[in-house]
Amino acid sequence: MPVITTIEDLRVLAQRRVPRMFYDYADSGSWTESTYRANEDDFNRILLRQRVAVNMEGRSTRSTMVGQQVAMPVAIAPTGLTGMQHADGEILAARAAKKFGIPFTLSTMSICSIEDVAKGTDNHPFWFQLYVMRDRSFIESLIDRAKAANCSALVLTLDLQILGQRHKDLKNGLSAPPKPTLRNLVNLATKPRWCLGMLGTPRRQFGNIVGHVKGVDNMGSLSEWTAKQFDPRLSWADVEWIKKRWGGKLILKGIQDVEDAKLAVATGADALIVSNHGGRQLDGAPSSISALPEIVDAVGSQIEVHMDGGIRSGQHVLKAVALGAKGVYIGRAFLYGLGAMGEAGVTKTLEIIHRELDLTMAFCGRTDIGQVDTGILLPGTYPTGKRQGY
Ligand code: GLV
Repeated sequence: MPVITTIEDLRVLAQRRVPRMFYDYADSGSWTESTYRANEDDFNRILLRQRVAVNMEGRSTRSTMVGQQVAMPVAIAPTGLTGMQHADGEILAARAAKKFGIPFTLSTMSICSIEDVAKGTDNHPFWFQLYVMRDRSFIESLIDRAKAANCSALVLTLDLQILGQRHKDLKNGLSAPPKPTLRNLVNLATKPRWCLGMLGTPRRQFGNIVGHVKGVDNMGSLSEWTAKQFDPRLSWADVEWIKKRWGGKLILKGIQDVEDAKLAVATGADALIVSNHGGRQLDGAPSSISALPEIVDAVGSQIEVHMDGGIRSGQHVLKAVALGAKGVYIGRAFLYGLGAMGEAGVTKTLEIIHRELDLTMAFCGRTDIGQVDTGILLPGTYPTGKRQGY
């Protein structure tokens, strides 16, 4: 077993252990993947200011996201098909998040259901992510199920009413469970650990959907389902209707533009997430970290601003916080850990990120995450509200 010290180590191991179609699903963006790459590259262009002879004792990364205590300002992002990276993946990741003291967000398009995760974490509160589908009674039932499961925030995704084209998914014929084609069977034969896990769990389909929507007993291809069921007419009036129906903490995900950020504020939501969906939707959109400062400038005093996209290290978390994010989300970083080593791998992801965050904060001369601001960044190397230099 190699010594694992980085998220990249976990990615390499996940690539070995997870069937190709599910690894590719996680590790790809839409079209040319330029936005997917920019998300991480733009973080790496921001330089940090080292300070010395500053008392570094008694450091804390504790903070809050939508009023909830977090051990560090990092939440697990909602990711589709997580239970295909590893058997019972959503339950395992939720357990790791619970033990670490950060929020776990369950996707509508998960394999384990809302009820599975509630049971698997002894009813520990988690967050639920909602997609708006044409069938409004189904949305109502998902909201009611999330409430019954003790979910403590609803993350409403606004940027995926139509699905970005990811070439690898089309070429691989992505479906859950995988179809028994010769190509898939040959690939599965090289993943005995994954197959054994899957044989040991009943959860191999979209748990929130199959058995809950009339006439749906097998969803097959994600892209077909999305095209048929997701509602392309989604509007801000729907957001207000959902806010009322839910009645709890509401986080709006998928904002990239200042005008949309202002409309998000007008709904009275508790937070928005600056996000390009991990570069999986509009390829050619700016990286999340470069879009963050102008949104913070415009609405940061009226709503909590979160971000996701490109976070692969604690340094990235620190840079996002310095630029005004109250919290960030990790998607691929935890999926790699999960695919590599199950719950222990997700814990490893969180430990790696936390350690890097804590040490980098100290090198920059700060002892409390609440004191981190642009003063820790080298001027001229980071994006500003005016998009200078980007
Ligand atoms: C779903 O959220 C996806 O990006 O595939």
